[in-house]
Amino acid sequence: MSYFDRTSAAGMPEGFLWGGALAANQAEGGWNEGGRGMSHSDLIPQGSDRWDVMFGRQKPVDDPDRLYPCRWGNDFFHHWHEDVELFAEMGFKCLRLSICWSRIFPTGMETEPNGEGLEFYRQVFEALREHGIEPLVTLSHYDYPLALVERYGGWQSREMIERYAHYVETVGRAYQGLVRYWLTFNEINSVALSYLNAGVTLEDERDRAAVTAAFSHHMFMASARAVEILHKIDSANKVGCMVAAGATYPYRCAPEDVWLAYEEDRGRYFYTDVMAAGAYPAWKLRALEKEGVHVPFEPGDTEYLAEHTVDFISFSYYCSRLVCADDQVIAEKAEGNVFPTLRNPYLKDKETAWKWQIDALGLRVTLAGYHDRYHLPLFIAENGVGGLDALEDGKVHDAYHIDYLRRHILALRDAIVEDGVDLMGYTPWGCIDLVSASTGQMKKRYGFVYVDADDMGKGTFDRYRKDSFCWYQKVIASNGEDLS
Ligand code: BG6
Repeated sequence: MSYFDRTSAAGMPEGFLWGGALAANQAEGGWNEGGRGMSHSDLIPQGSDRWDVMFGRQKPVDDPDRLYPCRWGNDFFHHWHEDVELFAEMGFKCLRLSICWSRIFPTGMETEPNGEGLEFYRQVFEALREHGIEPLVTLSHYDYPLALVERYGGWQSREMIERYAHYVETVGRAYQGLVRYWLTFNEINSVALSYLNAGVTLEDERDRAAVTAAFSHHMFMASARAVEILHKIDSANKVGCMVAAGATYPYRCAPEDVWLAYEEDRGRYFYTDVMAAGAYPAWKLRALEKEGVHVPFEPGDTEYLAEHTVDFISFSYYCSRLVCADDQVIAEKAEGNVFPTLRNPYLKDKETAWKWQIDALGLRVTLAGYHDRYHLPLFIAENGVGGLDALEDGKVHDAYHIDYLRRHILALRDAIVEDGVDLMGYTPWGCIDLVSASTGQMKKRYGFVYVDADDMGKGTFDRYRKDSFCWYQKVIASNGEDLS
């Protein structure tokens, strides 16, 4: 029997947090309701310039003739009651969701929070708890109050740390006892490519290195601040970081490729080195010095980062990555999550509707990598495959989705049982269909629950259980023993 033919992941620990993940900017909608302020993600349009805006190469503008999918998402804002019921029916032990900062502080500058916004999340968290579902809350998932972004140029400014700290303190106090697991920033390492994830638009690429160093440093300091604040509010709080992960493989066994793969992974580990191990690694400091890049360290920053490290590391995993040191070698590029990669010929037959490759064993490699390096608890905060689903007679047959998840659950089971990885939980991405971050499409579907809406935001927004819904319900009920 081959590795992925198994139909049982027996041996999963008791209390494992099975669940699903979503984020306010892609699910919530209700962008101009409940006293919410405008968020910068409300200005990421559909269309050919979407990537230029998202990557921070072009300034976002509010154009009444354009469509902005984050404004409607899957309308969780109006459907959350039934969504929580559906998650409970599947047996979720955990739901990863994010708070939209501008729902709490509409411009980010207020002293007093928006009561309606606080109340909205309170009700959601309470409903989750009533169903025994642990909320895992991302404090910032690709959205900042637009006014802050405009005022400060995003995380380029150190002022953002104070605004973020005030927001974290507010929600930390408001939800004390309701929320115990927190994540500081979604995929913090994505800012290396997508400046807008740091609230930055950089029309002049010449400043890239200095600006990137500045906004990354400020986000690290803010993340450490969140750790300090949330620990002070409640010593039971567990605070994690969140990175876009995926081990890098060398294209050939040429030492140059092996070294390049090592460098790529080291670049990914840089973020967890700072947030989990508490220091900038030596290689990074030397590289910055060599480039003549100044990191805006202030007195006390080094000690502060060392003191307020995270309790656990969470990450998204969609696929491994592949690099080659020689441009002359014929290697195709592949589509993938955030970071570019070459197309891996060994994964060739497993390509999906959006041409993201599938490498379940790569999840085990990735888990082992973090475990061996940091010896901290880990959390798979995102994993999944976006596909085209058809709703017929109220049913959706998404066998490809089940197959993807089954393989990844086998891999994570082996990481736990065979490799001794301390894995807290698994929250597959987009557990209910939502708007895709990269394409802005609704038809790129990850969910166990189908949402009747199209790319234009039209539809009934009714919810339907897919085949994978019943399958995952069985997986959770058997604590992974039954993956059939
Ligand atoms: C991760 C993000 O990068 O990948 C999510 O944290 C995103 O926000 C997910 O939705 C899947 O990517 P996409 O582009 O298919 O939505």
